[in-house]
Amino acid sequence: MAGEIANDVNHLTLSNGDSSVNSGQDEDLVDPWNVVSKSETGVDYNKLIQRFGSSKIDQELIDRFENVTGKKVHHLLRRGVFFSHRDMHTILTNYESGKPFYLYTGRGPSSSSMHLGHLIPFTLCKWLQDVFDVPLVIQLTDDEKSLWKDIKVEEAHRLAYENAKDIIAIGFDPDKTFIFSDLDYVGRCPEFYRNMIRIQKCVTFNQVKGIFGFDDSTVIGKIGFPAVQATPALSTSFPDIFGDKKIQCLIPCAIDQDPYFRMTRDVCPRLGFKKPALLHSKFFPALQGAQTKMSSSEANSTIFCCDTPKQLKNKINKHAFSGGQATVEDHRELGGNCDIDISYQYLIFFLEDDEKLEQIRKDYTSGALLTGELKKILIDVLTPVLTEHQQRRSKVTDEVLKQYMTPRKLNFK
Ligand code: TRP
Repeated sequence: MAGEIANDVNHLTLSNGDSSVNSGQDEDLVDPWNVVSKSETGVDYNKLIQRFGSSKIDQELIDRFENVTGKKVHHLLRRGVFFSHRDMHTILTNYESGKPFYLYTGRGPSSSSMHLGHLIPFTLCKWLQDVFDVPLVIQLTDDEKSLWKDIKVEEAHRLAYENAKDIIAIGFDPDKTFIFSDLDYVGRCPEFYRNMIRIQKCVTFNQVKGIFGFDDSTVIGKIGFPAVQATPALSTSFPDIFGDKKIQCLIPCAIDQDPYFRMTRDVCPRLGFKKPALLHSKFFPALQGAQTKMSSSEANSTIFCCDTPKQLKNKINKHAFSGGQATVEDHRELGGNCDIDISYQYLIFFLEDDEKLEQIRKDYTSGALLTGELKKILIDVLTPVLTEHQQRRSKVTDEVLKQYMTPRKLNFK
């Protein structure tokens, strides 16, 4: 097969746990199941753009965003947290000439509470939804988590609904947002299943082996799954929202999901659909350092959306990796290193005020600001983020859940 799939086999460092497709020893390992870097500053994202063959989000694209929308771009775009894209120019050009698009993102429900890192793609989706006035579909891959983790089908389904509450708490417009569990929706919507089969007809075992590192002992549910994640990129999979109209889709996601969408982009033109566009984010680093991303299965390295202010404070004070010096005297003299300091890194994601952030960077780098003081700033920024999220989540009743999760017509131009 031509195009992006063929590239994968040569350019990708991919592994499925212990698989052999991992190419170079010095390369960062980035795939849907693993993120590991040897560097204290984390993954080399410029290299990743080259390896994956995506495009950098540069100033020109940011300027275009601002021209088209008449709004300052979200700080996650401004600060390069979203750093890579595919076909974003096409989306903007079409939008300018009145051609609509829709947003698609998702979440694999593997724990009952989401963590701070999970909020990142959803936060950008909310901003995009508000600014462009577009519909958003959110796939909860309870099927995926049941296949990959030691989680029963019923439990994965339950976790999907728990996660839906966290997602709704982010504040999506109920008139423009459809959230669905695969375990519910795939069997209920013939159009979705038909598109899934059309996609499965286009991709061979050999190709998914190359992309995802599957082998002969991989259970067949996993082998077929990439088509499930590809299907929401076809607008006709949501007849209640789009009827039979073919509308281009934009997918904000962390860069580790790109293998799924390289496959999707390869298949779409053959089925008469436009390739989905993508916005890729960097990973949200673990508390212990940027060598790995935050993960639900490592409680000590993770700040959950349901953590209490006390838990939050303890985790940051105890575990947040510091770029400061060993003693106060050394720190005052030599200054700290923001590039590896996790508290500073988290502020990039969550402190909205550019000037404050820059002042903190200068003061920590010069040694004027101590590590304990920097941690205090982060705790003060994150405490209301968590408590307000929890308040909004507590208001998500079964009724509200049902509202977002019922297939229905959405309200958009
Ligand atoms: N596979 C993703 C995960 O494990 C979930 C997902 C499904 C997703 N569709 C998506 C993520 C689209 C981003 C965009 O979390």
